[in-house]
Amino acid sequence: MCGIIACAGVKCAAKLLYGGLEDLEYRGYDSAGISVLDKGNIVTVKRKGRVCELKPLVQKLCGSAGIGHTRWATHGKPSDANAHPHSSDRFSVVHNGIIENYAQLKGELAAEGAAFFSATDSEVVVRLLEKYYRGDLKEAVLCTVERLKGAFALCILCSEYEGFVAVRYRNPLIVGEGGGASYAASDMPALSGLCKNVAVLQDGTVAFAKGGEISFCDFKGRPLSLTFAPVPASVRTRGLCGFPHYMIKEINEIPAAVKNTVAAFEEQGCRQALARTAKRRGFSQVVLCGCGTAYNSALAATYGAEELLGIPVRAETAGEFRYRQTSAGAGTLFVAVSQSGETADTVEAARAAKKSGAYVAAVTNVPYSALTSVADIVIPVRAGTEVCVAATKSYCGQIAALALLFGALGGASQYKKAMRDACGAVAMCAKAISDCLSEDAARACASSSCVYFIGRGTDYPVALEGSLKLREVSYIPGEGYPAGELKHGTLALIDGSTLTVAVITQRELSEKVASAVEQICSRGGRAGVVCAEGCAPASLKGRVEFFMEVPACRGMLSPAVAVIPLQLLAYRTAVMLGRDPDKPRNLAKSVTVE
Ligand code: G6P
Repeated sequence: MCGIIACAGVKCAAKLLYGGLEDLEYRGYDSAGISVLDKGNIVTVKRKGRVCELKPLVQKLCGSAGIGHTRWATHGKPSDANAHPHSSDRFSVVHNGIIENYAQLKGELAAEGAAFFSATDSEVVVRLLEKYYRGDLKEAVLCTVERLKGAFALCILCSEYEGFVAVRYRNPLIVGEGGGASYAASDMPALSGLCKNVAVLQDGTVAFAKGGEISFCDFKGRPLSLTFAPVPASVRTRGLCGFPHYMIKEINEIPAAVKNTVAAFEEQGCRQALARTAKRRGFSQVVLCGCGTAYNSALAATYGAEELLGIPVRAETAGEFRYRQTSAGAGTLFVAVSQSGETADTVEAARAAKKSGAYVAAVTNVPYSALTSVADIVIPVRAGTEVCVAATKSYCGQIAALALLFGALGGASQYKKAMRDACGAVAMCAKAISDCLSEDAARACASSSCVYFIGRGTDYPVALEGSLKLREVSYIPGEGYPAGELKHGTLALIDGSTLTVAVITQRELSEKVASAVEQICSRGGRAGVVCAEGCAPASLKGRVEFFMEVPACRGMLSPAVAVIPLQLLAYRTAVMLGRDPDKPRNLAKSVTVE
């Protein structure tokens, strides 16, 4: 959702910013740009397309300070003109977020004679800075932010200031220092190779960086002091390590993600903290929220949880939850699930739940994210930095974290069982990765006009996630359904060009799902099966185009194992079709706007 970066006090700003933009590209990749300050002049290059389009343009740029941007378009289509930075003679600005009152501001500024050169909401920021600049940069910045409504992380260059200004309001921004230089970026991995110490800006903070000096103030200009801390080792990315794509690298990291998540739950004393809170507050319901893959893991966790706790447990998409009158209140445990911890809908849903009195738990892979500052307790997912836009290892880490969370709420013996299941799942995930080659299955998918995924019980949320993964990276249309629902409408769409993938890991439900597959095959539809060892219904042998088998994993960890062949299927289909699985069209990993 747009990545921004800035530096000051460096030898060659352009080269460094270019490298940082490559690290931030997962946040958006429809256009990119860089401005540098060269002997008091702002020089800007920007282009529609991926960051690599900038490479030939940055070679000749000099300057010791600069800003950069990689865009995921919200206002204004991807084009050279709409690419950031947006500049005037004196200012250049990069923005992540949405300026909600941009139309009103644009009207006002245009009436005063300001010219606009893009269709973006962001350009109003640079025109406001010009309007308010009377020789005092701080005053211009503060007057400008006072006019903005919405969400914004900004990095600003001014031709009369040998550094940069960074502003945060409801979009992530981190500053770093070291070696006589200062930095800012949307996330920590982009800074991890540049500096040792970082500070996470809080909403309503402005940072003025010159050489290695950074000073901070709030939106009223009152000084703030921030504590810098070393970059945690866990945020460092180590590149592709010989894998052709991050997606397959990260699928291979699933066993470690589950193992490390289990270890972190214990290390951080989550069990004791949850048990104490449950005793004190006596929860009467649990509501889980998330978006995309995080919602799918939340939904998967509801299945075993309700039986285990004996209270209502439900999952909702965060974008829906935040805008309706909810029944979340003092008796509610609200569990916000988010890989990035920055997804706007999830963070706002957590804020809304907290406001209504709920106890908020954040299940997240990013310990310094906005979600953690809203939450009463952080349940860590330790999947390590996830680069591929399509989430894989974080899903499995979330499943493990949620299983332990519910185990901890269920009491000592339930926790012991959850722990045993989670530890046992590590080897099962590894086996599923090595066994499920899925070439035939990928060929079957790649040649289909539409792919449906069906399952019952916990296999239903797995079907949803399998379908999401395939749509995200291969662009083949499809849906995930509870197996019993297909015949209530969607069966009308089945023909020889469609494929249905049935997920069958629950032995007691296997014959039911097999019947649904029979109904599809009888109507000329094609089918494939992902099943747990010993679950394959004999009736389907010879009827379907492929079987992929995973180790039989019972309990709440089952989705973490069952999802693996579906992730591999999506990956291989995308590669077969010549798609880039790491950066699917139109998508971004971190959706920090509504
Ligand atoms: C985006 C990503 C998805 C992700 C979703 C939620 O849409 O493309 O892969 O599942 O956001 O992200 P979160 O960081 O909150 O888990």
